[in-house]
This record gives sequence, structure tokens and C-alpha cells, in this order.
Amino acid sequence: MTAENKTFSAGLEGVIACATQLSHVDGTAGRLTYRGQKTVDLATTRSVEEVWYLLRHGRFPTPAELFAFTDEVEDLGALSADEYKLVKRLAGTEPMSGFRTALSAIAAHRGYTSWLNRDPAETYDEVAALASLAPAIVETLYTRRRPRLKSSNTGYAERYLWGLVGEQPSPQAVAAVSAYMILTMDHGLNASTFSARVTCSTGADAGASLTTAIGTLSGPLHGGAPGPVLDMLDAIGTADKADAWIAGQLKAKRRLMGFGHRVYKTEDPRAAKLREVARQLNSPRVELATKVEQSALAALQAHQDAKSKAEGKPGRALRTNVEFWTAAVLEYVGIPRTHFSTTFCASRIMGWSEHIREQMEGNKLFRPLSLYTGPAVEWDAPVEAPPAPQPVQ
Ligand SMILES: CC(C)(COP(=O)(O)OP(=O)(O)OC[C@H]1O[C@@H](n2cnc3c(N)ncnc32)[C@H](O)[C@@H]1OP(=O)(O)O)[C@@H](O)C(=O)NCCC(=O)NCCS
Repeated sequence: MTAENKTFSAGLEGVIACATQLSHVDGTAGRLTYRGQKTVDLATTRSVEEVWYLLRHGRFPTPAELFAFTDEVEDLGALSADEYKLVKRLAGTEPMSGFRTALSAIAAHRGYTSWLNRDPAETYDEVAALASLAPAIVETLYTRRRPRLKSSNTGYAERYLWGLVGEQPSPQAVAAVSAYMILTMDHGLNASTFSARVTCSTGADAGASLTTAIGTLSGPLHGGAPGPVLDMLDAIGTADKADAWIAGQLKAKRRLMGFGHRVYKTEDPRAAKLREVARQLNSPRVELATKVEQSALAALQAHQDAKSKAEGKPGRALRTNVEFWTAAVLEYVGIPRTHFSTTFCASRIMGWSEHIREQMEGNKLFRPLSLYTGPAVEWDAPVEAPPAPQPVQ
């Protein structure tokens, strides 16, 4: 379909809308890299701060730089007394709405303004400061109390988990959350990153760009899937019921959460890594999740084959996505399922920050076209244009 000879792609599928040096998603081979580094390797060998630093600077920090950066993120992550009061008022609201609103309120309170006609580095500092607050905001909203005092130079992943479980988590649990956060920190031009960049492209302030992104991430087709994955495992109950339950969902034309991806035509590499993490943790969900995954993949394949035969075009490859095994990992470490999406947010917010920086560096306002499909209008015949004025001799 074309509008004035332009191609229309629903959902911008297949459209390249920006250039980035941050992450590369190879959907055909099932590979994900950050700044030329394999994320599946980073997940279990690096800390969250090291990977955020890598995204920011394009290289790993030295040990001294890492210590200083971890300290800086920790310092920036403290709420002032006024900010704590603002956030506390939102305690008890739906976690993603509360998080979105709290972050927006803090940005307003801090008086952040448009980055246009200012040094973009100042706005980047504001964005990074807001991103660093995620653990403290989530903890305050969840516990309705001031964030607990934690040992100094405690990493971001540990502080986040500590805030939700209420005590210092085990190194094994911290490693699992850290692996999860590293794997989900950035992912090309996913919907929320795109919306952060669109808002930033208008010159909007730091809070506006991040708030837009949080709203976009909250939907179940994007970051809201892992909670429903756990609901699905609960509803199935035991492995012997998986086939029938899944068949019933597909018959009712419902989506299986944790499967399918816009870009990956093969297994999402993050899903494979988190499956490994869940197995290493000996999560009690592993047995049931493994059976449900097998049943779902077989049923989705059969469903797509039948559809492809009926329609005479290739079916979609629907494989396990990152959210399926996320559910088993986050549940095991003690994160309540109500907070799976805020956990995703606390990780992706670092990727958004770097995309906002990139957007400011080479800004071009996002302004695509739309294909008008409404009623036609009868226009009067165009009035002949008056002759152009002749230059005075
Ligand atoms: C992620 C997702 C939105 C990507 O979808 P997409 O590339 O835009 O593809 P569409 O939504 O157009 O779906 C294409 C077809 O595949 C089907 N499909 C896609 N994912 C499916 C799933 N998880 N379960 C069942 N069917 C699915 C759709 O029903 C649609 O079938 P139809 O053509 O008969 O209507 C989609 O796979 C999905 O909804 N997954 C479940 C939610 C989820 O896990 N989200 C987390 C993503 S990381």
C-alpha cells in the first residue's frame, strides 16, 4: 500500500527508524550484542554497572572507574526528603502506574526543562540521575517506608532486590537478578525505546522521555508479560494438563504469554540464557515450565502450519521469548509477580538513558506520515495562480 508513493508498514514492521551504536538484535540468527559484546556472556561475567558503563562509554571500566561509577549510581539513587514524601503518596497504586507517576513527579519537582538550546550533557545527567532512582522508588512504593540503609558500594541489582525482599539477598539471587538485568538492559528499537526517542526528539525534558517509555513498557505485549506467564503456569497446575490447557487457549484465539517476537525468527537468546539460569537455581518451576514450553512450542507450530496451509503463505515462527523464563527466575529470587514489570523497567531504564543520549547527539524530529483512509473530499477546481511578479527593470 502506498501514500504518495511511500510504503506503509503496519506497526512499522521492518522499518529502520534510527541508527544506534548500543545494541544489535540479529533476529534471524538469534543473537544480541551490546557495543560488539555478546550479551549472553556479559550476563554471568559482568555487573549491571559494568554493562551500563559499556553502553555509555563503549568500553568496560577499569576497576577504579567501576568503583567510582557504582558509588555515583548509588549516590544518585537516594531520594531527598521531599521526593520521598512525593513517592510515598503513590504507594499502593498499581506498580507500573505508581513508578511512572513517581518518576514524573520527581522530574517536575527537580524542575527539569527542555534540552534544546542547552548543553545536552546536562540533560543526560538528569536522565541518568532519574534512572538511578529506580530501586529507591520501587522500594518506597512497595514497602511504604524509607528505603532501608544498605552497605555502601552495593550494586544496583542487589539494592533493587533488597528493597523488594526486605533483607540482604543471597549472592546467588543477586547474580540471577543481575543476569536478568544485563540481558534486558537494551534491545534495539523496541517499542518503549522508540517512544523514549520520539519524545526526546521533540526537545522534551528528561522526565518526559523516561515517563513516555515507562508507559509504553507497561503493556502486556511488551513488558507486562512475565506476570501473566506465572498466572499461566498456575492455571495449568501440573505438567499433564499442559497440552489440553494450551489447546484450549489457542482454540479461543488467546495469546500464549512468553511466546512470539517481532524480530526473532528463532529462539530469543535471552530466553535460552534465562532457562539456563533458572535450571542452575533449581527453581521449583523448572519442571512444569519445561513441559509447558514444549507443549506451547508444538501447539504454536501446528497452529501456524495449519494457518499457512489454509492461507497459502508462510506461517510465523513463534518461539519462546525472554518473558517466559524471566517469570521462573524472578519468582525464585522472591520478587512478587506484581513487580515483574517494574523489574524490567529498572533494567531497561539504563538502555533508554543511553538511547536518549544518542538521540540528543544526532537529533532529527520523528515525524512519519499517515495513510489517509477516510472519506474523500470534493475540492473546487484549483484557482489558477496569478502570474509571478516580474523583477523591476
Ligand atoms: C510479542 C508479540 C506482540 C509480537 O507480535 P507481532 O510480531 O506483532 O505479531 P502479531 O501480533 O501481528 O501476531 C502475528 C500472528 O501470530 C499470532 N501470535 C503471535 N504471538 C502469539 C502468541 N504468543 N500466542 C498465540 N498466537 C500468537 C497472532 O495471533 C497472529 O495471528 P493471526 O495472524 O492469526 O492474527 C506477540 O508475539 C505476542 O503477543 N506475544 C505474547 C506476549 C508476549 O510474550 N510479549 C512479550 C514480548 S518480549
